[in-house]
Amino acid sequence: MEKPPICSYEGSDYQTTFWDQGGREYEDAVEGVALRRLLPPGGKHMLELGAGAGRNTPRYQGYEQITLLDYSLTQLQQARQRLGDNPRFRYVAADVYRLPFAPGLFDGATMIRTLHHMADARRALDQVRRVMQPQGIFILEFANKHNLKAILRYALRRQDWSPFSPEPVEFVALNFDFHPNTVRAWLQQVGFSIERQLTVSHFRMGLLKRIVPLRLLVWADSLAQLTGDLWQLSPSVFVRARASGAGQPAAEGEFFRCPACGAPLPDTPPELVCGGCGVRYPVVDGIYDLRVKE
Ligand SMILES: C[S@@+](CC[C@H](N)C(=O)[O-])C[C@H]1O[C@@H](n2cnc3c(N)ncnc32)[C@H](O)[C@@H]1O
Repeated sequence: MEKPPICSYEGSDYQTTFWDQGGREYEDAVEGVALRRLLPPGGKHMLELGAGAGRNTPRYQGYEQITLLDYSLTQLQQARQRLGDNPRFRYVAADVYRLPFAPGLFDGATMIRTLHHMADARRALDQVRRVMQPQGIFILEFANKHNLKAILRYALRRQDWSPFSPEPVEFVALNFDFHPNTVRAWLQQVGFSIERQLTVSHFRMGLLKRIVPLRLLVWADSLAQLTGDLWQLSPSVFVRARASGAGQPAAEGEFFRCPACGAPLPDTPPELVCGGCGVRYPVVDGIYDLRVKE
């Protein structure tokens, strides 16, 4: 695929309508449980890919610095409003397919509810691996096509795509569900080893969420999550992967790379100028805009 399309949330009120007022306390809470189980106790520098409005960022307590990356400036503006101008956070507008960072920079990374929008998911994972230090921990959430509801619907002939086949299914434009075997294979091909899997959101059903108290549903999901290494039948899967194989940590002080040509990019707000190709990238209201203009 030459240049994969981007599903940007520019101008979207996703955080408010989907999370804050969308009746998704259960989904948010069980993701919190999974993250607590998978995150290392501490780390130096975390990259949050597709950070949106920073819903999960407060969960990365153990990390000294967090870089929130999203293609949408407005999502990052919302994140900045919610989290503040703390020097612990850096806001970067960029494309996951063209990560503007030095190789080997991050010792931690997460990508939650974002692979879901990747038409070339393997390429996105390859980019993540490139910017991770050897032994760095990457926590990936993906939408699982091999979930119980999809299997039942397929068996009852209410759905034409097979939940058992390895290829992603694009059920709405730029919204993909993946087979767990395929995601595991991609992770391994690009240089990650898989340490642990948790299945998440088993009880994502309107009726259950209405009649079962939230705490009970979260408790039940927390137990069911623990079967994640054995089978994956839930709509959401979290994987903890470790950067394996060759690679060097980034040199001290190295941070940005030009997303257009790959040359080192000095961190000189309010404007970053690439010494390689001359492209200028603005820093506006504390947000680095490192998107490549085609
Ligand atoms: C469903 S939201 C998830 C936000 C957050 N991770 C959460 O769980 O609340 C997906 C985010 O990914 C971003 N995104 C999609 N494609 C991207 C790309 N190619 N590069 C950077 N961000 C992207 C969107 O702009 C959006 O903010």
